[in-house]
Amino acid sequence: MKPVKVGVVGCGNISGIYFKAGQVFEILDIVACADLIMDRAKAKAEEFGCRAVTVDELMKDPEIEIVLNLTIPAAHAEIALKAIEAGKSVHNEKPLAISREEGKKILEAAKAKGVRVGCAPDTFMGAGIQTCIKLIDDGWIGEPIAATAFMLCHGHESWHPDPEFYYKPGGGPVFDMGPYYITALVAMMGPAKRVASSARITFPERTITSQPKYGTKIKVDVPTHVAGVVDFANGAIATIIQSFDVWGHNLPRIEVYGTEGSMSVPDPNGFGGPVRIKRPNGEWTEMPLSHIYHENSRGIGVADMAYGLRTGRKHRTNGELAFHVLDIMCALHESSDQGKHITLESTCERPKPLPMGLRYGLLDE
Ligand SMILES: NC(=O)c1ccc[n+]([C@@H]2O[C@H](COP(=O)([O-])OP(=O)(O)OC[C@H]3O[C@@H](n4cnc5c(N)ncnc54)[C@H](O)[C@@H]3O)[C@@H](O)[C@H]2O)c1
Repeated sequence: MKPVKVGVVGCGNISGIYFKAGQVFEILDIVACADLIMDRAKAKAEEFGCRAVTVDELMKDPEIEIVLNLTIPAAHAEIALKAIEAGKSVHNEKPLAISREEGKKILEAAKAKGVRVGCAPDTFMGAGIQTCIKLIDDGWIGEPIAATAFMLCHGHESWHPDPEFYYKPGGGPVFDMGPYYITALVAMMGPAKRVASSARITFPERTITSQPKYGTKIKVDVPTHVAGVVDFANGAIATIIQSFDVWGHNLPRIEVYGTEGSMSVPDPNGFGGPVRIKRPNGEWTEMPLSHIYHENSRGIGVADMAYGLRTGRKHRTNGELAFHVLDIMCALHESSDQGKHITLESTCERPKPLPMGLRYGLLDE
């Protein structure tokens, strides 16, 4: 299959793993990269053998079919809309956008232009969550009745070189880490129906302790501890806590409880296991992984979009899924503000499970 030429916009902290994906997945050919800070684009271009260009040059390059948007959340919509306007498909880092309005604009513009929208996270395409999906589909835990999804830490200002965006709209634990947890739940159980929550800002100001901005203060503009309940269309009730306010905890990351057993789901911010199952009269048992891609395979979603472009099939990390996840995240903030359940506007199809027995570097045979 002819590789799809990709242009990267945003050459910061996370970009390296995507450039590596360009070497792993045979369908991807990263030919150019851009950043507001040209030196960053030049450094990545030199390291990974592509061209450093301006954002405008990248958008005008007729060879490029997919724009891989790795900018900060507040710039996701602007860059995505530019790419769509230029007639290119776009895959955003998460979140899709920082509001429903922006998300809708992206999907509508892409529909009008006949191009595709994709969005991280793609970790649910890894061996760990794909194994969980297969176990659910094969009946190992019966009908899912409930789930838990817990991500509690103390934020990112101790390690990220430029952490301000984590405390602005599009950041906070729900928009930053929530996409991994919520997308994994949707990938396993299908779409959600309604959301309730309580949310707070515990520390209105944060101090950066990483370099090079050590000592710089950040004003916190988004909730940093959110406890929510999400009702899924299949009837399962998920309890979710996403927090940047907690120093330590002993909670699992994700568990799914069914009528005939329980499942311990691996870290949805990773690609591997372990996956564990407990049946009514048995012990917790680690299950073998049924799929490949257990190592860090960020970029697998872009590769899936590239296959979609070549074959016409739907890609898994699609805009409809990302918009539904965005809708749930917005509702997790709004329910607390409004003191009531929020009925979701959107829905989506559960993404199709990956085939088993794939060869490394390929997604379709
Ligand atoms: N750092 C991580 O571990 C991590 C992990 C997963 C996902 N993400 C997501 O990836 C995205 C980027 O995060 P990061 O940590 O790499 O941030 P970063 O600040 O390190 O990098 C972002 C880059 O985008 C550039 N940029 C911003 N606006 C731009 C614009 N309008 N045009 C061109 N370039 C622009 C910046 O100059 C910067 O180099 C975010 O959406 C984040 O949520 C980050």
